[in-house]
Amino acid sequence: MVESAYKSYHTIEQLPSLVGQTVKLRGWVYDTTGKGKLQFIKLRDGSGIVQCVMLKTAVAEEVFEAAKTLTQESSLTIDGTVRADDRAPSGVEVDVSNLQIHHIAKDYPITPKEHGDAFLMENRHLWLRSTRQHAIMRVRATIVKAIRDFFDGNGFTLMDSPILTPAACEGTSTLFETEYFDLGKAYLSQSGQLYGEASAMAQGKIYTFGPTFRAEKSKTRRHLTEFWMVEPEMAFFELADDMDLAEDFVEYIVQTVLKHRMPELTTLGRDISKLEKVKRPFHRMSYTEAVEWLNKNNVKLNRKQADGSEIQIDFPWGEDFGAPQEEALMSQFEKPCIVHRYPTEVKAFYMKRDPENPKVALAMDMLAPEGAGEIIGGSQREDDFEALKERILAHDLPLESFEWYLDLRRYGSVPHSGFGLGLERTVKWITGAEHIRETNPYPRMIYRIQP
Ligand code: 4AD
Ligand code: MG
Repeated sequence: MVESAYKSYHTIEQLPSLVGQTVKLRGWVYDTTGKGKLQFIKLRDGSGIVQCVMLKTAVAEEVFEAAKTLTQESSLTIDGTVRADDRAPSGVEVDVSNLQIHHIAKDYPITPKEHGDAFLMENRHLWLRSTRQHAIMRVRATIVKAIRDFFDGNGFTLMDSPILTPAACEGTSTLFETEYFDLGKAYLSQSGQLYGEASAMAQGKIYTFGPTFRAEKSKTRRHLTEFWMVEPEMAFFELADDMDLAEDFVEYIVQTVLKHRMPELTTLGRDISKLEKVKRPFHRMSYTEAVEWLNKNNVKLNRKQADGSEIQIDFPWGEDFGAPQEEALMSQFEKPCIVHRYPTEVKAFYMKRDPENPKVALAMDMLAPEGAGEIIGGSQREDDFEALKERILAHDLPLESFEWYLDLRRYGSVPHSGFGLGLERTVKWITGAEHIRETNPYPRMIYRIQP
């Protein structure tokens, strides 16, 4: 039997606490330079990057010669001693005593020079090794942990929803379909919400967290066809409770990232002061107030005429906001803003109408600042059997597929609410990434499924 050895190796992350000690490191060459009796190897191992210094007189001659053959992304093991060095970003360097090459990489395609987006996306499996992508993925992992910690620590039970489903949840225009044995068509879930509602009636407060799918025809910087969504659902919560929870939640995520990922945010050149301001209370306004603000501030809507020409009009009450309206609205704010009570017509069938004004739904969207746009969509749910049934029929949805969902209104119906936060949208906002494709390890978009 081969002895397990992983504990006898160190990671670059640990080095600042190992000054003066001998270490064994494994990783890949980020960069090399050499002059005369010195070889410098920038080693990366996934946990960090460290400069390793090899002095010709400190190693065997063949080791020094081997070091000269190293290329970008070649893999190796290094033995050495950790030395404090004020000039190094992590405060340490490694003096090399031995080196073992695992593999010499030939012509690694991603060099330090600038590459185009298409090329980088084709090489996403390699691009992930670069410092910037590495930092974004670490922030993403921390956001996922913050999401779980927040709900696990506040009395929520994780109840995952299925991905293969018999019916639409968020409109029929963005459904991916597949054949499901003898049972006809199945669809990839657009949201775990409907199941989340059933789960909340069993557990009180639940969250579902997993991949969701939308056959979005839009090529924007904010849309993926496969994205992760976390969806809390709470029995006995009304819209006001839902909005309060969403604020607590988003504040917690941002403050947790600031606490644990400062080096990564710095690598990304993120303006930290903007994130530090993300503290409750956030801004709030109704949809109607938002429309008034747009029109008072002359934010016009481009409208195509029958003859193909475009005119600019005031924003008509009743239409949904697009990215331009959201961006204009948010230009006045440094913190997120919750817009609530949207017109019933533009929102999903399951949303409860406002008893005080049935033209609007008890819906809410959270918009993030700095051009990030909508990160949360949520609502209070229709809890009345007749009203919900009528809405399912009005939306031309197959009633048989929703009988189980109607059961929640047949057996102990209660007011309840929830929301969905898009993970990638949130990573994009917090990291300041330009495009959503950088926020998922292997993003799926309308025009790309490789690698
Ligand atoms: O606003 P949406 O469509 O809401 C729902 O799906 C509700 N069922 C959630 C609920 O109440 N449980 O989507 C929620 C969030 C959006 O605010 C956005 O952050 C993200 O999911 N999202 C997308 N992210 C990336 N690409 C897409 N195509 C997205 N569509 C929605
Ligand atoms: Mg939405």
